[in-house]
Amino acid sequence: MSSQSYTSLVDFGRKHVTNGLGRQIEGVMTKGSGSYVTFGDGRTMLDFTTGIGVTGLGHCHPKVSAAAAKQCMELVHGQCSLAFTGPYLQLIERLLPIMPDPSLDSFFFWNSGSEAVEAAIKMARTITGKQNIIALQGGYHGRTFGAMAVTRSKTIYSEGFHPLMPGVFTMPYPYWHQLGVPASTDPSQISAMCLNQLNLLLSQQTTPKDTAAILIEPLLGEGGYVPTPVEFLKGVREICDKHNILLIIDEVQSGFGRTGKMFNIEYSRVRPDIMTIAKGLANGFPLSGVVSKKEFTDKLKPGSLGGTYAGNAVACAAAVAVADAFKEEKVLENVQARSQELFQALNTLRAKEHLKRTILDVRGQGLMVSVEFASPTGSGPYDAFVDKTVPEKLATRVAKRCHEKGLLILTTSVYEVVRFIPPLNIAKDDMQKGIRIFVEAVEEVVREG
Ligand SMILES: Cc1ncc(COP(=O)(O)O)c(C=O)c1O
Repeated sequence: MSSQSYTSLVDFGRKHVTNGLGRQIEGVMTKGSGSYVTFGDGRTMLDFTTGIGVTGLGHCHPKVSAAAAKQCMELVHGQCSLAFTGPYLQLIERLLPIMPDPSLDSFFFWNSGSEAVEAAIKMARTITGKQNIIALQGGYHGRTFGAMAVTRSKTIYSEGFHPLMPGVFTMPYPYWHQLGVPASTDPSQISAMCLNQLNLLLSQQTTPKDTAAILIEPLLGEGGYVPTPVEFLKGVREICDKHNILLIIDEVQSGFGRTGKMFNIEYSRVRPDIMTIAKGLANGFPLSGVVSKKEFTDKLKPGSLGGTYAGNAVACAAAVAVADAFKEEKVLENVQARSQELFQALNTLRAKEHLKRTILDVRGQGLMVSVEFASPTGSGPYDAFVDKTVPEKLATRVAKRCHEKGLLILTTSVYEVVRFIPPLNIAKDDMQKGIRIFVEAVEEVVREG
């Protein structure tokens, strides 16, 4: 594409694509292959975003794309409320043995993560006969009306859209920064603080008799890539069991191998009553799912769930190929090996004398990893970690410098956080290349002040 026609294409997009959509880069992506994405002006970038945690097996994985293409020639759209389709049932066959708990045996597929969260809320209300939902501060669950109402990561997602769905209560997430305690605080202490707040919420704001569910991301995503302490998850499970409250685990971002296990909740062995999945499930084809136990879903009336495109046959065929590739290509082993290399490099960077004040935290699990920088403004004047001596907007500036150097990477949360979500099957060399660019970007931006 000539540079003139490329520029006019970008201008066309600026003019006609809604301003409601944010963008990291002003460009047009034209091709994706494995860990790389190419733009219409010829630039090729190493992709540490995977379309926000979606293309876990890399762009256009040959077996996944081939399975989708084959299904395209057989049956594109069968409509799930008319009859079953083969790929829909095959996908359930593949998922059953990898569920984090054998009780999870009843499936409904939809298109997006937000829709899965909507379905989970509807199900929790019907199953328990109760209304209220407890969400966690910093949690992100989507932008549709129900999902937006339980999203607590940034006000931008609901600004100007109130009133939101009623019946949502918020408790603190066990994240040191939000609680104003140092990053080194013992996770069991942080967990106890938050479980105490949950007990108070249940006695001061929403009685267990009115509370249908607690909705948790087992590794906080958009809120800053913070792993949830096991003690906290176990404590919430106990409270749920005691009060007949359902535990909804949102694995939309942390699921499908992203954190080194098929589902992040496996680290704690806590049983979800309802689990939402999406993103990596079909490696880029729009597909999400809500899983629960049959005893619960038998309470739903036929027709209460559905959707024209829900569980589309092509997306399901792609997801079957994803599940097979996970086994055949030893993806989880690669996640663990690359994760170790990434953590080692980031911790070495953090330990450098001149960066000790600048990097507050390196955290995550598997290949869902983040670096939190200090900030001279923080989230406001009462932020316990405001540090006037460090440069401002470090995360955004580092991410931008990485872009200039050919690494596509994202920030996240209300704090100064850069997140790493590379392909799960990324090669060792590409991981090293991405790390090199990030380290260079941090050193340069900090030096510039
Ligand atoms: C944990 C979590 N839940 C739900 C969603 C919403 O998914 P979608 O954007 O597909 O609607 C996201 C999206 O980032 C997510 O990370």
